[in-house]
Amino acid sequence: MLSGGLIMTNLELPKPLQFDLYQYHKSLGVILLMLFFVRLSVKMVSKTPPLPDEMTKLDKKLAKIGHLVLYTFMFAMPFTGWAMVSSSSYGLPTIVFGMFEWPHLSFVVGNHDVHEMAEEAHELLAYGFIGLIILHISAVIKHYVVEKKNLLPRMGIGKIALVLMVSLIGSQAVAKQYEIDYDNSHIQFSGEHAGRKFNGEFADWRAEIEFDRNNLAGSFVRVSINPKSAKTGDKMYDGTLPSEDWFNVINHSIIHFKSNQITQNPDGSFKMVGDLTIKKVTKPISFDFILRNTKQDKVTEIADFSLKINRLDFDIGKKSDPQAEWVSRDIDLNVHISTK
Ligand code: HEM
Repeated sequence: MLSGGLIMTNLELPKPLQFDLYQYHKSLGVILLMLFFVRLSVKMVSKTPPLPDEMTKLDKKLAKIGHLVLYTFMFAMPFTGWAMVSSSSYGLPTIVFGMFEWPHLSFVVGNHDVHEMAEEAHELLAYGFIGLIILHISAVIKHYVVEKKNLLPRMGIGKIALVLMVSLIGSQAVAKQYEIDYDNSHIQFSGEHAGRKFNGEFADWRAEIEFDRNNLAGSFVRVSINPKSAKTGDKMYDGTLPSEDWFNVINHSIIHFKSNQITQNPDGSFKMVGDLTIKKVTKPISFDFILRNTKQDKVTEIADFSLKINRLDFDIGKKSDPQAEWVSRDIDLNVHISTK
């Protein structure tokens, strides 16, 4: 976890590999958090073997403090990671090895300050933990080499946990991550103003898609759209859209969609249910989409779908036109996603 964490954050890795490492890191991290509590329970109900009599009082005290600090780190490390991803503005879910969703800590969701603090703490704890582990191993070596005392059998249980975890990682497949071909993809919108149709497009958006037809429970989609990038080509509309009553781009820099469930319809198309957040208003939305393979040999998949959203539900243009006398209440979104 320590070396993996440092590798995924510090090395220039290909994006799909880096993304997968993050997902493995989070999955294993929350399992370690659960194992921490298992370990704590075992420790509370079982009797720890007494420290060897030959140890000096000071050594015994140092060992006690060292173990207490190790346990604190074992909890704080995954907990700060959990707090970090829960408070991240991306809102990316933690799907444990593609099997089930680990919930976010609801009381910190979207909290930027908590995110900053947790990120800083996670990194500092990591370096502290590395130091502590080195110290711990040095102490064992000191006992073994200098004092000729073998304390290793006291730690045998660690091997069982390691074997269990390694087999778990090996046996679980994660849904395939797709790389988006942004040049050939678009998110367009259209509606009516004063009886005339207008069309526009969001130029700046990013999507993360993990999709596997055979593992829809482990599949998810997350899309972030920069509302500032909405352009219709009409100066009047483009001047109005960023303003407070419409997208309010000064205070809300991101439109966010996160899928909650993907299922397959009897006709072969798919149904996606998720949450759309615009201007801090989150509403459930659902839509059907179809997938097409364009090049059989290159697994290029294309998804197409459209959906209607009620702009008043999301506080868009509510002051200027609450009755939708000028601008239609329903805005059509037209999405075409092509993958590499
Ligand atoms: C024993 C458990 C864990 C250990 C030892 C560990 C260790 C690390 C390390 C060494 C880093 C790199 C620090 C840096 O240079 O920024 C890191 C980053 C990260 N960890 Fe963990 N971690 C653990 C648990 C978790 C958990 C449970 C989660 C989330 C559910 C998590 C999420 C992350 C994320 C998102 C990053 C990247 C932060 C960034 O991009 O700056 N970690 N972790």
